[in-house]
Amino acid sequence: MNAARVPQVSLPLHPLDPLTADEISQAVAIVRKTRAPADDVLFVRVSLHEPPKETVLGFRESEPLDRQAFVILRDRRARATFEAVVSLGHGVVVSWRDVSGVQPPITFEEFFACERLVRSSSAWLDAVRKRGVADPELAIVDPWSAGYYGPADDPHRRLIRALTWIRTSEDDNGYARPVEGLVALVDMDAMQVVEVEDHGAIPLPARAGNYSPAPLRDPNNVPYVAAGPRTDLQPLEIVQRQGPSFELRGHEVRWQKWRLRVGFTPREGLVLHTVAYEDQGRLRPILYRASLSEMVVPYGDPAPTHWRKNAFDEGEYGIGMLANSLELGCDCLGEIRYLDAIVADAEGKPVTLRNAICLHEEDFGILWKHTNFRTGQVEVRRSRRLVVSSIATVGNYEYGFFWYFYQDGTIELQVKLTGIVSTGAVAPGARPAHGTLVAPGLYAPHHQHWFSFRLDMMVDGPQNSVYEVDSAAVPLGPDNPHGNAWVTRSRLLAREAEAQRDLDPLAARYWLVVNPEATNALGEPTAYKLVPGENVRALAHPDSSIARRAGFIAHHLWVTRYEASERHAAGEYPNQHPGGAGLPAWVQADRGLVKTDIVLWYSLGVHHVVRAEDWPVAPVAYAGFSLKPTGFFDGNPALDVPAPTHHGDGHCHA
Ligand code: CU
Repeated sequence: MNAARVPQVSLPLHPLDPLTADEISQAVAIVRKTRAPADDVLFVRVSLHEPPKETVLGFRESEPLDRQAFVILRDRRARATFEAVVSLGHGVVVSWRDVSGVQPPITFEEFFACERLVRSSSAWLDAVRKRGVADPELAIVDPWSAGYYGPADDPHRRLIRALTWIRTSEDDNGYARPVEGLVALVDMDAMQVVEVEDHGAIPLPARAGNYSPAPLRDPNNVPYVAAGPRTDLQPLEIVQRQGPSFELRGHEVRWQKWRLRVGFTPREGLVLHTVAYEDQGRLRPILYRASLSEMVVPYGDPAPTHWRKNAFDEGEYGIGMLANSLELGCDCLGEIRYLDAIVADAEGKPVTLRNAICLHEEDFGILWKHTNFRTGQVEVRRSRRLVVSSIATVGNYEYGFFWYFYQDGTIELQVKLTGIVSTGAVAPGARPAHGTLVAPGLYAPHHQHWFSFRLDMMVDGPQNSVYEVDSAAVPLGPDNPHGNAWVTRSRLLAREAEAQRDLDPLAARYWLVVNPEATNALGEPTAYKLVPGENVRALAHPDSSIARRAGFIAHHLWVTRYEASERHAAGEYPNQHPGGAGLPAWVQADRGLVKTDIVLWYSLGVHHVVRAEDWPVAPVAYAGFSLKPTGFFDGNPALDVPAPTHHGDGHCHA
């Protein structure tokens, strides 16, 4: 096993490369010098201002490009928010906008500041003491975004609704002992606890919920593993003596016929750019950009502590800001290459998130096989996939985002959900109506995790059209005399108003992105299809605050005409936003979608009725979708994958 670090300095920068540490410092210095913001202004975001698509596609390394930064600032004293675009090449602020009236995301520094404020509030101290908490210093206070439930949540004020749990020591899984009924409203501009709601005490659950090796043997732990860690696992080693088969040059990846750029933003985390496939000497584009555009986790429990839980983990916190430093042999196995991510802290200083992105190859079983039963000849190929991944910790939860590239032209996205479920306490002996009991007096409310993936498609070029394809039985009659006939029915999604679609797994529904101008050897237009996996309907009422604020969860597929500024499915600033922004607003224009530059937005809902087995740390739940070539190639593109060799006589046969 080996890990090599990638030199990120010696290459000329590509227009899509994330900002370097120097560029972040420069951008912040330029803003400070020319705009003189208050000393305690928060630098909420400093990230690459991506150049226009035409500029990127026409980029030549010989013609250097002005790199620009996009900066979001929060002036707490003035209760004002500003957006700046900074030219690094010219050392000037090119645009400066006062966007007050929106609330930028919560910074990592504010997580801790909020905890300190709440722990020093007398109303909060009274409430936890009333519940018999001896040492309030052992409380953890999580900064849940405030949401919007009326004019008092107006986004001119920067609010957090903080929830409390009690640890027994610093290493304890604090989520085992929720302080039910206690919600602290904190004004993060004024740095004040505004209000402490106490809906009445419910006893703190008594049992521990730890998952590190030592406490497993503690009979007070749920579950209790008397024997401790199992001892019957033999080592499994992935060995690639000659190194991996991919090449990483700066942020560009080449793996067999795949070509792509790996990007990263503080908001979205992992981003893929310019994904293309080299097909018999031709570089054929598939995707211009693919990213998580937003996510939200609405909880389905009306109890006072839980009904406002619905974090927009991307737009209200930042999936990239919360990326883990991945570890060799743990997060990824084998011959690994890492990319660091560089973000800015709230003072605008660059911070390196080491090993934030992992690249490696995996054996994925068989790719294709046939035995000629007459001759006994066997042809079998093993499937190898390239994995580009990143994992974020958002409070109690972990989200892994894994992009897979396969030798048959398939691209797959898988979200891996793990970590600790959000908890509440119930009275002894009671069963929760909107959740699952996971330990005595402890429950986890029902919830859904919603992800919106933005797929800026470019199948053989930017001009694409989208069809919805269902399979249907033909009515009995002259066209179906024997009752066995069925057909596929394609429907062109010609305008945005008709391109808000839902899953229909019983009709084997998929969505086909076609280039009407490009054809394969059979004369059919080349295409990729979006194949959904498991999904669900949003259960929040359409008039609820969360359904209005997360409008994208109303449909599984949205198609829009490309517009560079339309990047995030619930709008630019979902924090405390009253609702209606993002996809539902943009599609009001009802733009035409035929043979034009289109963007697919796939809403993926992961339904979580918590199981006892999800406690105290949940085994990974998987969800995702695939993009599969459909007439993009002239036939199976993986025929040229060589037969495997093995350690016996060198090749596989019958
Ligand atoms: Cu969950």
